[in-house]
Amino acid sequence: MKKIIIAIDGLSSTGKSTLAKQIAKQLNYIYVDSGAMYRAVALYALQKKLIIGEEFNKLKMIEALPSVKVSFVYNKKLNISDVYLNDLKVNKAIRSMEVSNVVSVVAAIPQVRQQLVKLQQQMGIQKGVVMDGRDIGSVVFPNADLKLYMTANAGTRAKRRYDELLTSNSNLSLQEVLDNINLRDHLDSTRKDSPLLKSNDAIEFDNSQLSKEQQLEQIMELVNSCLDS
Ligand code: CDP
Repeated sequence: MKKIIIAIDGLSSTGKSTLAKQIAKQLNYIYVDSGAMYRAVALYALQKKLIIGEEFNKLKMIEALPSVKVSFVYNKKLNISDVYLNDLKVNKAIRSMEVSNVVSVVAAIPQVRQQLVKLQQQMGIQKGVVMDGRDIGSVVFPNADLKLYMTANAGTRAKRRYDELLTSNSNLSLQEVLDNINLRDHLDSTRKDSPLLKSNDAIEFDNSQLSKEQQLEQIMELVNSCLDS
């Protein structure tokens, strides 16, 4: 059977990664969470104190890039890919609000993007990949076989992310999560290099009113017609 590349882009917390994982599982494809890679670089910047409060030493960040290695290692036991920043597993650390608060500024640096996009493109060489992010259909895989652009209303997105984060951080407020989502959407959509946008050939999909199962069913119809064509 032919293998395809599926690119899923969209606003923050639109369920892209949940959907991408479900599709990858059904097709036995590789799932790549490109956002995790930007989050890992942002974590590096925080750990090395390149970002302190409002101050971000972008020059030092760019200089440090050759020593920032982001990778995925398949975890057989849990059937997930662990995210590594150099030799450290950072699955949990990259999901913190500290990282969420700075990631979009780090992701706006063209040199950061160049480094990560190169890695992402290598992961797609054999096809059979579902990748989610902001620029997957526009920059990483402009020739992707299927491009999806996910949306949902802001309240629904904030609530979803809040519920997700609550298990690890009980001090969080819904407002804080909503503010972060709105800020990231603004920064991601207005940056100069590879802003979030809906490619002309992407299919827009609003999942505000859909359960995960309903969403998957509808998307798999698109995937299957793409595989059959
Ligand atoms: O919170 P959510 O899962 O929606 O975001 P994410 O996929 O973890 O991505 C975190 C951040 O990384 C985004 O807000 C963007 O600033 C950046 N990003 C990007 O610039 N390009 C990508 N392909 C993926 C993520």
